[in-house]
Amino acid sequence: MKIPLSQCCRCISTSRSLNKKVIPNNAKNKGVSSQLWLKRQLSDPYVEKAKQMNYRCRSAFKLVEINEKYKILLPGQTVIDVGAAPGSWTQVAVKEVNSKSDPVSTLERVGKVISIDRQNIYPIEGAVILSGMDFTEPKNQTNLKNELGGTKAHVVMSDMAPRASGIREMDNENMMKLCYSALRFAVQVSEVGATFLVKLWQCGQSKQLETDISRFYNNVKFVKPQSSRNDSAEVFILGRSFKGLKLS
Ligand SMILES: C[S@@+](CC[C@H](N)C(=O)[O-])C[C@H]1O[C@@H](n2cnc3c(N)ncnc32)[C@H](O)[C@@H]1O
Repeated sequence: MKIPLSQCCRCISTSRSLNKKVIPNNAKNKGVSSQLWLKRQLSDPYVEKAKQMNYRCRSAFKLVEINEKYKILLPGQTVIDVGAAPGSWTQVAVKEVNSKSDPVSTLERVGKVISIDRQNIYPIEGAVILSGMDFTEPKNQTNLKNELGGTKAHVVMSDMAPRASGIREMDNENMMKLCYSALRFAVQVSEVGATFLVKLWQCGQSKQLETDISRFYNNVKFVKPQSSRNDSAEVFILGRSFKGLKLS
């Protein structure tokens, strides 16, 4: 299935010529930044690996790595994937929580994956997809809660990123807004002991976000998977062992 290039800057299913590792003719007329982007794609081992493993995006390996190290996704769990397009994290989660299996014919526990993005996400077997929905809108968070059907989530993960304006302070501020929106939602829908994983761009507010996540999660740390590019300010905060909301 071809995912439109516009959907994810590191989307891999963009051109058959990527296989041949040459810059396609139509890209030669494009701007310098497009050519640099293509050059980087062609030399990126994770792009190739993602294609081989049928992941929609190289981002899959960030979650794969985090999961290999911290075992955050287990069969039978309920996962909410926020900012999920084109869907590679959802693909990883479906496999790990075993949400594609028929409960009658599997011995493992069957989980649930609910994914949301403001962009379109092509269907993924084993996942409930909420496409074209801005996560920050209360009505869309209500839709997510409805999909939980009165149950709680074991994992809330956000790989959301705002549209970059090129003005760093503004972009960081918008990213932080998305992180806090995900955190606020996670504490409402998570069960005690749950996990929260959120992407951010390292900036002056990163430490404060870590501190705020620590109010709700017992074990909080910054993680930077190898597959996250060194030249990227991207980093993740992993919060484990949700304390639960103490109503006072
Ligand atoms: C880096 S991509 C996610 C890649 C995805 N984890 C994957 O592996 O395929 C970031 C996504 O965040 C989404 N996003 C940003 N702001 C959002 C919002 N307010 N509501 C929903 N999605 C949002 C973007 O549309 C984009 O698809």
